Amino acid sequence: MKKLAPVITIDGPSGVGKSLLSTSIAKRLNWFNLESGKIYRSLAFILLKYNIFFLKKNIIQTCNNIVTFFSKKHLELKILFCHQEISQKNLMDQKVINFASEIASIPFIRKIFFLKQRSLRIYPGIVTNGRDMGTIIFPDAILKIFLVGSLNIRTQRRLQELQNKGININFLTLQKEIQMRDERDISRKNSPLIPAKDAIIIDTTNMTFIEVLKQAMNYIYKIN
Ligand code: DC
Repeated sequence: MKKLAPVITIDGPSGVGKSLLSTSIAKRLNWFNLESGKIYRSLAFILLKYNIFFLKKNIIQTCNNIVTFFSKKHLELKILFCHQEISQKNLMDQKVINFASEIASIPFIRKIFFLKQRSLRIYPGIVTNGRDMGTIIFPDAILKIFLVGSLNIRTQRRLQELQNKGININFLTLQKEIQMRDERDISRKNSPLIPAKDAIIIDTTNMTFIEVLKQAMNYIYKIN
């Protein structure tokens, strides 16, 4: 039987630093970076933008028309809808992010995206981040990391990230939104946000990003 490409998973709540860690590890290993939240955000963006009527069959059709692939040059996930790339800018809107969390609890959507994500498992390997990467999508990953961090520090980091992109939002509003998304992601029946039994938990609350990256890389070097 053909051996599947190796996978490293990074799961955790909003604003904990999954994306940056995932991108940084992927760059160091020269592996592809599968940012699974981008798929949910893209669907949210498309449904809102095109005002797609909320009938199950329309949503299924939309999910199936989302094309996902890796850029060979940048090793990052690209998403196309109707031959047009969904840009990162479109996916940073708070309305889109909050709606992504709502639709992510719908089982038939997760079922379609389950297959999409699995088909992105390609050589030389992938680093992936999300909520259920280590539990549901890639349970046989060679390393599973679950990041945690206090709500306060996660809000501060996300605020900084948004401000760097020129987006202004009030701290308490952002904190409330993050908390609501976390509660929704943790409490849903289907693929909830929980650490896999064999995941390594890293509490990032009092760590710099470089410290988190070093710790993660140390675990990677130990893989035989
Ligand atoms: O990782 P992110 O913040 O871009 O994800 C946006 C939303 O998508 C998040 O609130 C929950 C959902 N999501 C999910 O349910 N499962 C994943 N693997 C990734 C994201």
